[in-house]
Amino acid sequence: MSMSRRGFIGAAGSAAVVIPLASACGSTPTDANGGAQHKEQSVQKSALAAPRPFTQPLTIPPVIRPTSSDANTDYYDVTAKVASLNILPGLQTQAFTYNGTFPGPTFDVKAGRKIVVRTRNELPVPTVTHLHGGKTPPEHDGYPIDLIMPVNGWNGHVHAGGNVTQGTREYHYPLQQRAATLWYHDHRMDFTGPQVYRGLAGMHILRDDEDNALPLPKGNREIPLIITDRSFKEDGSFNYPSLDPNLNHPPGVTGAFHGGVLGDVTLVNGVPWPYLEVDAVKYRFRILNASNSRHYKLELDPKPNAPQSFIQVGSDGGLLAAPRGHTMMQVAPAERFDVVIDFSKYAVGTMVTLKHTGATGNSGLVMQFRVARTASDDSTVPTKLSTIEPLPWTGGNTPTRQFAFLQGPENGKMVWRINSKSFDPNYIHAEIPRGKVEMWQLVTDAQHPVHVHLSSFQVQARIAEQLAPTDGGWKDTVRLEPNKVVRILVRFDGYPGKYVFHCHNLEHEDMAMMANMKIT
Ligand code: C2O
Ligand code: CU
Ligand code: CU
Repeated sequence: MSMSRRGFIGAAGSAAVVIPLASACGSTPTDANGGAQHKEQSVQKSALAAPRPFTQPLTIPPVIRPTSSDANTDYYDVTAKVASLNILPGLQTQAFTYNGTFPGPTFDVKAGRKIVVRTRNELPVPTVTHLHGGKTPPEHDGYPIDLIMPVNGWNGHVHAGGNVTQGTREYHYPLQQRAATLWYHDHRMDFTGPQVYRGLAGMHILRDDEDNALPLPKGNREIPLIITDRSFKEDGSFNYPSLDPNLNHPPGVTGAFHGGVLGDVTLVNGVPWPYLEVDAVKYRFRILNASNSRHYKLELDPKPNAPQSFIQVGSDGGLLAAPRGHTMMQVAPAERFDVVIDFSKYAVGTMVTLKHTGATGNSGLVMQFRVARTASDDSTVPTKLSTIEPLPWTGGNTPTRQFAFLQGPENGKMVWRINSKSFDPNYIHAEIPRGKVEMWQLVTDAQHPVHVHLSSFQVQARIAEQLAPTDGGWKDTVRLEPNKVVRILVRFDGYPGKYVFHCHNLEHEDMAMMANMKIT
């Protein structure tokens, strides 16, 4: 408890306040040597020579079109299926895909208009789809045990109590929310890590009139960048250390990878270390870290002839109030950064590397921009982008909860838990009244990207740390650094029902670092 009992510095340097611990928090933080093994993420090495960086062009996932539409709704058809992809030169990779591509097709839709995604499961395993960042009724949110069974049947293990469908399922998304960069991915109980790793992820761009009216770069100067790291076997197949390669039983990964699986090949939009030819103008990039467990520190090399490399215009939950410049951006798994890069600040002919400065060798490279020619550019980044109403904080009168993200022993092995509980679909960690602002204090041992379903939140403070330059705006995933405390303000005003929140390091999530909240 000592770690959680430290005096806390309030936001903006106000007097230290001590937050009473929620009674459910009875755990003792493990120290570095005290039995908390497997804390660190490990690199799964590929069994083949990696392709040379910057030899393949960036590809852009196809945009999916509705199959049909009526007055209020657009209907989309998605088939989850195995497809053979050419990711590495001369080799085929068997992937789990949405409609045959990795990443899956991009949804490009208007906020406020309902969509229905009719999903058919032709995979050999059950799947669940979650729209990450979506304000979605609980029965369509992709609850981990609400499985879509394979059309060809399944003889494996199934968790009791889920709303299971055979072969197909319709997900209804009202999308009553502001424009934002969302994404969709598999969320199957215990197997999200391997199933996302094999390819079940795609982008979902939500637009609205406010966003459309801004003079930001558009059309082919607005590009999604979905970053993942992967490891490959000699034959080109994905090299993920599942205990059961058939993804039935047992779940989880081999011992060395309990902290998270890192790959040694960086893919952007499914292409290893691609290059992109750009005009010497501004581009808008929607960056998504869809990696299982790797955090990135993104920088441009060389730096532009400008004070900052990236002009951030949006975060997980849409536009910031005003643009924010960064030289380096830390991007945790599942976070989205909507940024403008101005290539007019480079001489034509410059090769600009997008680097990950937290790693060495090829893992320290992401992609390359080749500034090819001058061109005209009527886009601008306005000094005001949107209006963000700060969630009110009324000190001790704001209902407060504490969630401790800690490793702990269970049945003789270490698992990842929240307030000393490993995920149990029947256990509710918190009953939360709709429409009320709450302060959540997130406490941690290791590095955990914490994601909350249903509603975006605002990062209020990092205890004993400065707020990060990228903490502004509406977030749905926040980076927790080891042995640190982050406070968020959140208000759930979507739909009543049971939702999860969890660590988005997918190996931690699969190994039980997930909890239920019941919105009332
Ligand atoms: Cu991106 Cu619960 O997930
Ligand atoms: Cu989510
Ligand atoms: Cu974690």
